[in-house]
Amino acid sequence: MDRLNIITIDGPAGAGKSTVSKELARRLGYTYLDTGAMYRAVAWAARQKGVDVGDEKALSELCNDLKLGFQGDRVLVNGEDVSSFIRTPEMDGLSSAVSRVAVVREYLTGMQRELGRQGRLVAEGRDMGTVVFPQAAHKFFLTASAGERAKRRKMQMENQGEEVAYEEILAQIEARDLADSTRAIAPLQASPDCIIIDSSDLTVEDVLEKVVTEI
Ligand code: DC
Repeated sequence: MDRLNIITIDGPAGAGKSTVSKELARRLGYTYLDTGAMYRAVAWAARQKGVDVGDEKALSELCNDLKLGFQGDRVLVNGEDVSSFIRTPEMDGLSSAVSRVAVVREYLTGMQRELGRQGRLVAEGRDMGTVVFPQAAHKFFLTASAGERAKRRKMQMENQGEEVAYEEILAQIEARDLADSTRAIAPLQASPDCIIIDSSDLTVEDVLEKVVTEI
């Protein structure tokens, strides 16, 4: 892997990573890699097959049989477009649960590194700068206060015609932050050599400007 070809963007749920990473990739002509979608796809496949997230052996078999693909913005599992099924509150929780399992992380980390070998990548996730691409040339950690992230999520849901109480969203965000940052393997954390950007009081354009300036 050529370290100069990889830009990593890690951070907690709802910090604006996807918006920023996608747009950054577009501007630089890089490929955007949404690793959260990969964990979501495994979670979805597990639920389809009735595999328990505590059953490592079954999850290992599931991963071995899984054909995971991307087509532009779409996520494919064994040829089926699952993009809309993996973005539900249920999959928020289930993806976080499967992401704790060693065999799942090994499987997806391998795939991610392989994609990294193929070309220029903006890799978004929780452990891109710490575990998957520690030698990446440019590493960012995008964060925002839990309150601000809950506010943004609520607005996003309202735009999709869903009404959920702010307190409920905040509680879910805090629970997932805790689960993701305290798990044993590859927990969510800022690598010592990354640039931390707090987007609480920044627009998407402000964040992009900071990132592009750093690069
Ligand atoms: O970014 P996201 O919300 O789509 O990610 C869903 C879950 O997947 C998240 O709660 C933790 C897990 N994840 C991970 O463990 N490592 C990554 N690199 C990306 C996501």
